[in-house]
Amino acid sequence: MSKQWAIWSAIALAAAASGSSAMAQEKIKVGFMLPFSGTYAALGVAIENGFRMQVAEQGGKLGGREIEYFKVDDESDPAKATDNVNRLIKRDKVDVIVGTVHSGVAMAMAKAAKESGTVLIVPNAGADAVTGPMCAPNIFRSSFSNWQTAYPMGLVAAKEGKKTAMTITWKYAAGEEAVNGMKEGFEKSGGKVTKQLTLPFPNVEFQALLTEIAAAKPDAVFSFFAGAGAVKFVKDYHASGLSKTIPLYGPGFLTDGTLDAQGEAAQGMLTTLHYADELGTARDQAFRTNYAKNYKLQPDVYAVQGYDAAQMLAVGLKAAGGDIGKKDVFRTAIEKATIASPRGDFTLSKAHNPVQDIYLRKVDGKENKKISVAVKALADPARGCRM
Ligand code: BEZ
Repeated sequence: MSKQWAIWSAIALAAAASGSSAMAQEKIKVGFMLPFSGTYAALGVAIENGFRMQVAEQGGKLGGREIEYFKVDDESDPAKATDNVNRLIKRDKVDVIVGTVHSGVAMAMAKAAKESGTVLIVPNAGADAVTGPMCAPNIFRSSFSNWQTAYPMGLVAAKEGKKTAMTITWKYAAGEEAVNGMKEGFEKSGGKVTKQLTLPFPNVEFQALLTEIAAAKPDAVFSFFAGAGAVKFVKDYHASGLSKTIPLYGPGFLTDGTLDAQGEAAQGMLTTLHYADELGTARDQAFRTNYAKNYKLQPDVYAVQGYDAAQMLAVGLKAAGGDIGKKDVFRTAIEKATIASPRGDFTLSKAHNPVQDIYLRKVDGKENKKISVAVKALADPARGCRM
């Protein structure tokens, strides 16, 4: 080695070392874009709680880097979504966006993430397109696709001997995709969806539609609602007397995080979801105990998804030595990981959506109790994803 070359090498090594120690001192900027107001406010809070709890369990650092948080209340309003996500990307220059709950808002976020290359981890919104036609190397989901939680309920409804079903939901991507998923499972098993009822998001004036259901007398009703809207719908359905003769089914959002408020109205309801209360594993028990201790609240599926978003970020950052700029290393590590979730272990599909067990649950008191695994290791079909 020439003397000059040796000097250059020494300078380069020193620069790299000081660069990486400077980087280690800089915080990773995480931007929460979540609903902190409106019908989905409680869901946003649970996601943030879960995320922060996982970071705290890792000693406050992921991949050796402390976290600096930024927050935007997206109000579950798709019309404001592009401006809101650009606040995080352009104004705050975050390294990672964690969001959101509402599928319509999430689609605008996925577009912005794809264009800017910013890492996006979706901790709830099930928009099929996010891990379908909009899939991208920098977009990951710690939750589910709308199809994935509803298709199994169609299979279950048919197994319960139901021949006809009506559906009722908000008219936006999540409701429409959940209904399509249920319909696919139900009709392939011999059932028939006779009518699809909708109302605008987040409207909760259900009375006229409940009257229509009562007149039509289907064997079952399938519905997608969540948050405060789910509380009101389940109570209205019960108060109308319909629950005595026509069982109300849905993806588990209908009864998750809502049972305190729904009380008697939800008892005995069957739903399908990738989480249930008291799964009986040591992993879940530790999560639930810590969550209850930290927040004086019982965790729900949204808290789990926030917690797992932080676990996924931790995996990527650890592999990349804390440098999120090492995009391929970051991405490959998450793609290859098995995430030890409170819901049970899961891996990611090629489109970056969890491949996971979907449980059949029954409401018993204040819990969504697991009855069985409705579909094991269910992967979203990721229609339209080219990656
Ligand atoms: C959604 O918009 O994708 C969604 C919202 C709440 C619960 C589940 C899905």
